[in-house]
Amino acid sequence: MANRNLLIKYTKLFINNQFVDSASGKTFPTLNPANEKKIADIAEADKTDVDHAVAAARAAFKIGSEWRKLDASARGKLINKLASLIERDTEYIANLETLDNGKPYGDSVFDIACAIDTFHYYAGWCDKIHGSTVPADGELFSMTLREPVGVVGQIIPWNYPILMLAWKWGPALATGCTIVLKPAEQTPLTALYVAALSKEAGFPTGVINVLTGYGPTAGAAISSHPDINKVAFTGSTEVGRLILAAAAKSNLKRVSLELGGKSPLVICSDADVDEAVQIAHGAVFNNHGQNCCAGSRTFVHEDVYEEFVKKAVVEATNRKVGDPFADGIQQGPQVDDKLFNKVLSLIEAGKVEGAKLECGGDRWGKEGYFIQPTVFSNVTDNMRIAKEEIFGPVQSIIKFKTLEEAIERANDTSYGLAAGIVTKDINTALIFAQSVHAGSVWVNCYDAVTPQAPFGGYKQSGFGREL
Ligand code: NAI
Ligand code: MG
Repeated sequence: MANRNLLIKYTKLFINNQFVDSASGKTFPTLNPANEKKIADIAEADKTDVDHAVAAARAAFKIGSEWRKLDASARGKLINKLASLIERDTEYIANLETLDNGKPYGDSVFDIACAIDTFHYYAGWCDKIHGSTVPADGELFSMTLREPVGVVGQIIPWNYPILMLAWKWGPALATGCTIVLKPAEQTPLTALYVAALSKEAGFPTGVINVLTGYGPTAGAAISSHPDINKVAFTGSTEVGRLILAAAAKSNLKRVSLELGGKSPLVICSDADVDEAVQIAHGAVFNNHGQNCCAGSRTFVHEDVYEEFVKKAVVEATNRKVGDPFADGIQQGPQVDDKLFNKVLSLIEAGKVEGAKLECGGDRWGKEGYFIQPTVFSNVTDNMRIAKEEIFGPVQSIIKFKTLEEAIERANDTSYGLAAGIVTKDINTALIFAQSVHAGSVWVNCYDAVTPQAPFGGYKQSGFGREL
């Protein structure tokens, strides 16, 4: 049940299976974006704390350590145990996520179910990771051995806090790595709670460490640390660049980057318009638009354009915005004032550049970072709302004539995370899927992410694959 009156149990750094203050003693506030009020003061990690956590993770990774001596199947059992503890505490964790992030309680419950599925998926891999024997020339016997990368730094965003944690922890734990994770400063609470559950599950000391704090301090200390073997990052393209540069300058650690997007969703003339409107609405408005693969450019064929726009506006106008703890709410506040202002300024840019504002276009209510579900029609490719990642509840509807043209325009972006198409013609779907430069392509659905399929970008949406 949704319940905003929560006892906040953990606010300190998690190093070596202990909750500790930061070396500096500093803290930072985490806010409730629905009312802009402070929830709690959280320990603020910096370089010294990163050194401590890396030392803990390094010790846990030593050959002969408890973690390295565990059978692979036993790692799987630990991961499944963690999944079952998360399941046991779903209600509490979902309330914590909603309080800290602002997403509706039902969405938090859904994210947690996805995180649990992710852990189960990876638990199954632990004892199924093998190398190969190689028919080498001469009197040689040759084989490959798959080894854990080592100490892994993980820097995650605030849009799906617990799910991003699961996407990062799952593969690292399954392969036998050790972890230093930094959650986003906007949403530190669920990561700390799940850290406590990892101890309860029985993960050995030092395998999992969680450092709360800011990007330019704690995050930068992770990406430039000489004793971290890999950094896995999800967030903005801008910070992705900094992380890659820091890895290059320090120790050439491996890097995987899951960055932003400006994903196209193409509605063909043969589509069922009602169905297409639903798919397109979910593609852009889910999670308040705060979704790296959001289908934020809605390309609609000219034959169905007028009908589509009319129905899309009805859908957006009916979207229930409000208190994320209340029943039936589909959209809460954006995560913080920075994003709130960015979204509002892009909406202004849409108006100034001549797009037609069909509905919304302003803040919602008087407090909290709520924004009205907004639809623009008559959007052209050169407008900022068609080019920049908005990360808010703003649909940009763009007209096209031919499939070839739609593909070309869909690809005319520096990003390439995802794409979608709604059509009844399998040839059209297959041509599109092959021609569009995107890591995931969805046909007659959107955001269909499952743990069994890889996820990641082309171009400046990053490289390396999640899941
Ligand atoms: P961000 O990229 O600054 O934050 C993501 C994570 O990176 C956070 O944990 C942050 O503390 C950390 N970080 C920030 N600066 C760092 C640095 N110098 N070194 C190491 N780590 C650092 O993204 P932010 O400011 O939250 O959002 C800005 C925009 O980025 C959003 O409006 C959206 O367009 C995009 N974004 C994309 C995401 C995705 O899922 N791909 C997630 C979050 C944001
Ligand atoms: Mg918060």
